[in-house]
Amino acid sequence: MRQAWWKEAVVYQVYTRSFKDSNGDGIGDLGGVLEKLDYIADLGVGIIWLNPIYRSPNDDNGYDISDYRQIMNEFGTMRLFDELLAAVHSRGMRLIMDLVVNHTSDEHEWFRRSRSSKESEFRDYYIWHPGKEGGLPNNWRSFFEGPAWELDPATGEYYLHLFSRRQPDLNWENERVRSEVRDIIRFWLEKGVDGFRMDVINLLSKAPGLPDGTDFSSLTGHDQFANGPRISEYMRFVKDSMSGYDVMTVGETTLADLETIAGYVNPEHGTVDMAINFEQVSLDRGQGVFDPIPLDLRAFKESFASWQRRLDGRGWNCLYLSNHDQPRQVSRFGEDGPNRSISAKTLATLLHTLQGTPFIMQGEEIGMTNVAFGGIDEYRDVATLNYYRERVAAGEDPAAILPRIHACSRDNARTPVQWSAEPYAGFGSAEPWIGVNPDYTTVNVESELADPDSVLQYYRRLIALRKEHPVIVYGDFSELTDQEIPVFAFERRLDATVLTTVLNLSTTDAVAVVPEEEDRRLLLASYADFEPRGSRIPLRPWEAAVWISES
Ligand code: GLC
Ligand code: CA
Repeated sequence: MRQAWWKEAVVYQVYTRSFKDSNGDGIGDLGGVLEKLDYIADLGVGIIWLNPIYRSPNDDNGYDISDYRQIMNEFGTMRLFDELLAAVHSRGMRLIMDLVVNHTSDEHEWFRRSRSSKESEFRDYYIWHPGKEGGLPNNWRSFFEGPAWELDPATGEYYLHLFSRRQPDLNWENERVRSEVRDIIRFWLEKGVDGFRMDVINLLSKAPGLPDGTDFSSLTGHDQFANGPRISEYMRFVKDSMSGYDVMTVGETTLADLETIAGYVNPEHGTVDMAINFEQVSLDRGQGVFDPIPLDLRAFKESFASWQRRLDGRGWNCLYLSNHDQPRQVSRFGEDGPNRSISAKTLATLLHTLQGTPFIMQGEEIGMTNVAFGGIDEYRDVATLNYYRERVAAGEDPAAILPRIHACSRDNARTPVQWSAEPYAGFGSAEPWIGVNPDYTTVNVESELADPDSVLQYYRRLIALRKEHPVIVYGDFSELTDQEIPVFAFERRLDATVLTTVLNLSTTDAVAVVPEEEDRRLLLASYADFEPRGSRIPLRPWEAAVWISES
């Protein structure tokens, strides 16, 4: 298997707005990232992914960019960014940016000019359409509720927005749009960034003629705008724009199945190094992202296993259960109560011993949990607010909507990082832009650092193991099948080395069945007194263990 730095490293995701406020305005900023850079480096991670930090009116917290070559006012200056990049590099880490080029902000200069008149030279930078029979151009729906079209009074035409109405979609068929994107990519590469996480990259190509979607769902139209006819060409264009630089690319690919993604990440003819897939994080969702349903553990294990098998030697996995768009993994796939810490360790063991690059969402490493704000006025996320408004308009009782928001809102992941038990969790000196999770008095970095048995210390050990044992990075994958439902067990093999992981993904006792091996050396376990003996291994609730044997 081809070696690469982005296979060997762990990625740490920084959502700057919620990370650390250095100047007392309640908003996390680049100064805060600099302040806590040693904390990140001490975790042992090799790559930092920064969510968008570009100039933005923040309708969608930076995913609505008004200037790709400026830093968001609240976050700091370009000088500070340059300083941060140098500081990251001097600690032996790399930094990747979020590239958001499916859409811009409605305040971007291109859109201001585009909307001003049908004759504007920027008109075709976006997707404009007259109404059809006095109504919308087609039946596509937005990811953030409601139709994907907005009527613009200035010219009487509609523009397409797959996300909020303040995020108009760029027209990738326009060659000038493509070359603008190439220039933006070169601008950041010349600064020295080490790659990009590419936002909704497989939505760039819309079906010609913008035909109606053929299914009627919360996302009607997805068959016409996801993985469209020119998508490979556009993704290749993005890739080629980076040629000559040693970079890593990770595509966010929503609405794409295993086969589609296997094509995108194919080492010979693919266009990205790895892709964020949505299969595992959709298993506990029914109709849309605000419809929680119970997780089928068997399907959960099978999903991980099938991606492992399919991409082994033929692609590379992006391993995650959390990010800024998903609720906190411990609350969702583990437990919040007395088993919080043990279940957080077990989920981490899963993600860090499969084949692929693990992604840690800030706060995950201390086992941060979901928040349940008392009222809708405490929520900030545009998707959450739109959903609430839409359900209320449809006549639903507000009290019935809130529990779904508690379980599913993206704001669960966006509460301030809990640095200490001090006011505002040590995030800053002023009231933060979004409420702090009340559990900060017990769940915080300071107390995790002081406790040798904490989730944080466990993450550090897991990350360190990756550097000591190439089998964790490059070993192949085989599932140890025929386990009880809550048990997930697998082997990774590199030459004569076998790494074995056993996980109890539940709160009931279970038994793992593993092959007899002579010389097992325990590397890590979620319970300190675990002993890897025999072929039938009893597992306590959320017990996880990793051992190695060399034959
Ligand atoms: C991606 C981002 C999400 C954003 C959306 C629109 O899914 O991760 O946060 O809202 O794209 O840019
Ligand atoms: Ca600030």
